Amino acid sequence: MTTTLANIDLETAYAEAAERFVAANPKSAAIQDQALAAMPGGNTRTVLHYDPFPLRFARGEGCRLWDADGHELVDFLGEYTAGLYGHSEPVIRDAIKQAADDGWVLGGPNLLEARLAQAVVDRFPAVERVRFTNSGTEANLMALTAARAFTGRDRIMVFKGAYHGGVLYFAGSPLNAPFDYVMADYNDAEGTAALIRAQGDRLAAVLVEPMSGSGGCISGTDAFLGALREATAETGALLIFDEVMTSRLSAEGLHGLLGITPDLITLGKYLGGGLSFGAFGGRQDILARFDPRRADAWPHAGTFNNNVFTMAAGLAGLTHVYTPDRAVMLNAAGDSLRGRLNDAIIRRGLPMVVTGRGSMMAVHAGSAPPTSAPEASARNRRLIDLLHLDLIAAGIYTARRGMVVLSLPMGAAEFDRLAAAFEEFLDVRRSVILAAGEGVS
Ligand SMILES: Cc1ncc(COP(=O)(O)O)c(C=O)c1O
Repeated sequence: MTTTLANIDLETAYAEAAERFVAANPKSAAIQDQALAAMPGGNTRTVLHYDPFPLRFARGEGCRLWDADGHELVDFLGEYTAGLYGHSEPVIRDAIKQAADDGWVLGGPNLLEARLAQAVVDRFPAVERVRFTNSGTEANLMALTAARAFTGRDRIMVFKGAYHGGVLYFAGSPLNAPFDYVMADYNDAEGTAALIRAQGDRLAAVLVEPMSGSGGCISGTDAFLGALREATAETGALLIFDEVMTSRLSAEGLHGLLGITPDLITLGKYLGGGLSFGAFGGRQDILARFDPRRADAWPHAGTFNNNVFTMAAGLAGLTHVYTPDRAVMLNAAGDSLRGRLNDAIIRRGLPMVVTGRGSMMAVHAGSAPPTSAPEASARNRRLIDLLHLDLIAAGIYTARRGMVVLSLPMGAAEFDRLAAAFEEFLDVRRSVILAAGEGVS
């Protein structure tokens, strides 16, 4: 990163960083242009688009990525938590190779799916039985529809600013699945409990992330999550924890760490070993309704639910790589890195903050940690856009929204590199950070 940047104001600083990005990435730009001919905006996954254009990746190894222009980057985006194992974990590669050798699209139950299911049941206390899907979105759709069928009620409760999948943005998208829903404020324990009680026997389920991941790595407080458990138990609504991202945060998921037992949980991301994956599980009396031996069984289809590549990769990863010990170690490393970044901010007296837990964190403008996703998105986004481009220039790839995710191949060298690049950002951009202050964008 050059220190001759003008930093006249945030917009000028950003424009300059964007210009530098464009100059450094002609091949990514050319591929983006070509992609426009076949894909709207050259894109098939909204979150991967950013201004001026996204880097196009040629390959990855360990926790490193190489873009089309040949730059090497340390991958602190970690495929939004699905990349826990990095890009080339040998145990997972061997499992995928073995699955390929044994043939795929077998059209019947295979030798792997019940073993992965057992590993998931053994790992997560709330999961007595589990079923697989192809994505976290599908897992949430299945959990919500199952909750509605189980309770005989229609309405669901979600939290403002929550993200639960491609058709589960709720108020944020005209493409939302047509659920009857009511919204509450994340971390408002009293207000939400009152709303659950007021909904009474109309409410089928409350769907919540125990830490809001995409919303800015904002932890649900014990009081908030405890109030959800209590109020739903009273009204008969099911409590569904979306642990698609957060299940990696301890050896037994975040619900296990917090000691709360939801009725259902949804899983995804890394649990497929880096391949397409989703799962929903929980109370045996609810999941039993899917038992196809029953005359009144609920249907649950999905051609690729038990595909051998995902089953093999997921099983190898969970049983041989992300063992409980390694889960503890990785999350401790994340806590220490987050502490280091916050110390760097505090030492300089700057209005920024890093929130999160364990191996997931997010950087925000403003000094107080936001307590909900809407509060986080009202903070100065431009400053976080600038951080994103500055970190890329320093060889560090993070999510545009300021999310930083650890992966297993990382060690002290990668953590030092991120900390150094972050400190350089704080120093070089000091005047624009101070000018952005506590204000909203
Ligand atoms: C909390 C949460 N739930 C569900 C999903 C959807 O998962 P998928 O992208 O596999 O459909 C995501 C994806 O980012 C997520 O973060």
